[in-house]
Amino acid sequence: MKGADCLQNFTYDFYKQSADYLLARIPEPPEIALVLGSGLGPLAGELENPIVIDYRDIPNFLASTVESHAGKLIFGRLSGKRVVCMAGRFHYYEGYEFEQLAAPVRVLRLLGAHTVILTNAAGAVNTAYRVGDIMVIRDQIKLMGASPMRGANLPEFGERFFDVTRMYTPELRALALDCAKRLGQEYRMQEGVYFYMPGPQFETPAEIRAIRLLGGDAVGMSTVTEALTAAHCGMRVLGLSLMTNMAAGVLPQPLSDAEVTEAAAGAAGRFQALLREIIQQM
Ligand code: HPA
Repeated sequence: MKGADCLQNFTYDFYKQSADYLLARIPEPPEIALVLGSGLGPLAGELENPIVIDYRDIPNFLASTVESHAGKLIFGRLSGKRVVCMAGRFHYYEGYEFEQLAAPVRVLRLLGAHTVILTNAAGAVNTAYRVGDIMVIRDQIKLMGASPMRGANLPEFGERFFDVTRMYTPELRALALDCAKRLGQEYRMQEGVYFYMPGPQFETPAEIRAIRLLGGDAVGMSTVTEALTAAHCGMRVLGLSLMTNMAAGVLPQPLSDAEVTEAAAGAAGRFQALLREIIQQM
């Protein structure tokens, strides 16, 4: 679907049907939503008393097409908080329009979540960063393509023209850095700007040089539509990027998905411990 054809279905009721289906199947509504990026899915297995619901079974929801993304909503408790995990997210490169990518976060909001933690694997553009560093997203740059909020505004979620100067909630950024400090020296934390690129190809070295000039510290193919959707409906947002590789052209070798997956797997334990601590302190 393209253009207006793809937009006319997105009524408040459209999202509410997804949320009502889920609310009928969970004992308590979630307060915190967690979107797990490539290779960071295992945390979903740590929720207590989990209730697992396949994306395919949720009316009006999207279907995950990437192998490394599981395609399930998992409800349960983590660090004592009521949490819902999206194990598997949706990307523009899969063929979705940006407008469709609003759906998951809107449904999470309708379930009751007031805070969303967005995680991703990203390439390090800033040459002072190293593989394994965790970047707290301070801000984002998305120069390519439509806003997920394009189309008729749904006032039940938010205003037509909305502020994004504090899209990544300053208090949560400080909290994340604080938690890492408390956990110790194995955490090399950064705070920087996430630059969105549509993929699925990794970037060219020339694109990475341009991104660096424009102010990007890390580059990735996800997260930005989710953050915008969350900002529109008044959710608090924390974004955490795991540096799985130096961006294209920084090192002489080519990039590969295997490198990304391997680095994510290697850091998963550390990343999860940080998320647990952050959720506990929220
Ligand atoms: N570029 C885009 N997306 C990514 C990268 C990258 O270098 N690494 C992990 N996700």
